[in-house]
Amino acid sequence: MDSILVQGGGPLNGQIPIAGAKNACLTLMPATLLSEEPLTLTNAPRLSDIKTMTELLRSLGSEVATMQDGKTLAMSCHGEINTRAEYDIVRKMRASNLVLGPLLAREGVAEVSLPGGCAIGARPMDIHTDGLTLMGADIELRDGYLHAKAQGGRLKGAVIDFPFASVGATENIMMAATLAKGTTVINNAAREPEIVDLADCLRKMGAQIDGDGTSTITIQGVDRLGGATHPVVTDRIELGTYMLAPAFCGGEVECLGGRMDLLTAFCEKLDEAGIEVTETDKGLKVKRRTDEIKAINITTEPFPGFPTDLQAQMMAVLCTANGTSVLEEKIFENRFMHAPELVRMGANIDVAGGTATVTGVNKLKGAPVMATDLRASISLILAGLAAEGETKVSRVYHLDRGYEKVVRKLQAVGAQIERISE
Ligand code: EPZ
Repeated sequence: MDSILVQGGGPLNGQIPIAGAKNACLTLMPATLLSEEPLTLTNAPRLSDIKTMTELLRSLGSEVATMQDGKTLAMSCHGEINTRAEYDIVRKMRASNLVLGPLLAREGVAEVSLPGGCAIGARPMDIHTDGLTLMGADIELRDGYLHAKAQGGRLKGAVIDFPFASVGATENIMMAATLAKGTTVINNAAREPEIVDLADCLRKMGAQIDGDGTSTITIQGVDRLGGATHPVVTDRIELGTYMLAPAFCGGEVECLGGRMDLLTAFCEKLDEAGIEVTETDKGLKVKRRTDEIKAINITTEPFPGFPTDLQAQMMAVLCTANGTSVLEEKIFENRFMHAPELVRMGANIDVAGGTATVTGVNKLKGAPVMATDLRASISLILAGLAAEGETKVSRVYHLDRGYEKVVRKLQAVGAQIERISE
């Protein structure tokens, strides 16, 4: 298994290109199941999760070709469809559940393995299945698989009230509704930029969708969808992560392709902490206003609130802030696994349920630490960049799921970081 060695050091200066969004690409790819025409995605990120989704779609009968050194995905799904998503692929990545809605819409049947537990929480699928049931699907859990069948062979439009603004359930239902008979309304829908990106792509394919980006999305079902070519939206989580590097280490970094509107709540918190963000014609420039970071309080919320996927990274930075910060994780029940690893580096963090209290210390100390999930792993890299001495982060396969070329991108702004195989 590979590890990453980081020598804590001085300020970071230069430019970091931001890739296409993993969490947009993972919902755009299953949309190919909705049409017999080709769907091509450009600006796709080169990540192991994308390879996993490619493997899954191929197992269902889609053709997926990667071109332009992996940043273009040319897909088409015009042959025989296999409607069973096998456990041995689905268990690798929860986002595999995003084939459920498209398969039901295209074929009227679907057998999708439950993804199984995940490090950060139980992550059930009740909001997905309750919504599809209202659209006329009979869904039964048997042998670890969801067996779904649309009554009469075709889903029908419905008014669906989400108990929680689930991102994945919004995506599954929106895709399913594009080919349903009649109109579907999703109330309390998720508002993430990745939802808007999916809706933009589906509209290019001929879908009739309004309200994406708000809490109420209306989809008028059509009989068939065509093909499209669509650029994957910028990855706001990769963006936020790299914005924290100069905040933590000093210096000035320009994140190329970054857009403020993707991270308004996050940028407000950076400002409160004493970090300056400037929009340029190439992206977002970030630097500390002074040598210190002010302590701040964070509560993770559905978009447009503070993103849960940036909580671990922000916690790392707040470990050496001036004062005490309180972080409340409201989205997942177990998303503080990075805290004990940061404590090994000298951080002062007290976790009680969904609340972490971080009392700033002067400096972190490099140490061997272990990645436990995707965002925890990058928070440890950030901590290593700002710490004194060497940090060795093990199990970096977690990192490869969501951050392309992280060593090269950080080396380009002066970080002393390398990947070693053991
Ligand atoms: C998406 O996961 C993202 N993944 C996650 O990013 C992100 O953290 C999450 O949205 C929240 O923003 C992708 O887009 C591939 P949810 P998703 O459904 O769709 C509960 C990363 O690091 N819930 O909004 O699974 C669930 O247990 C990943 O890139 C139900 O109870 O998130 C969780 O506590 C991690 N029942 C909360 O809602 C359901 O049917 C949020 O889940 C569905 C969800």
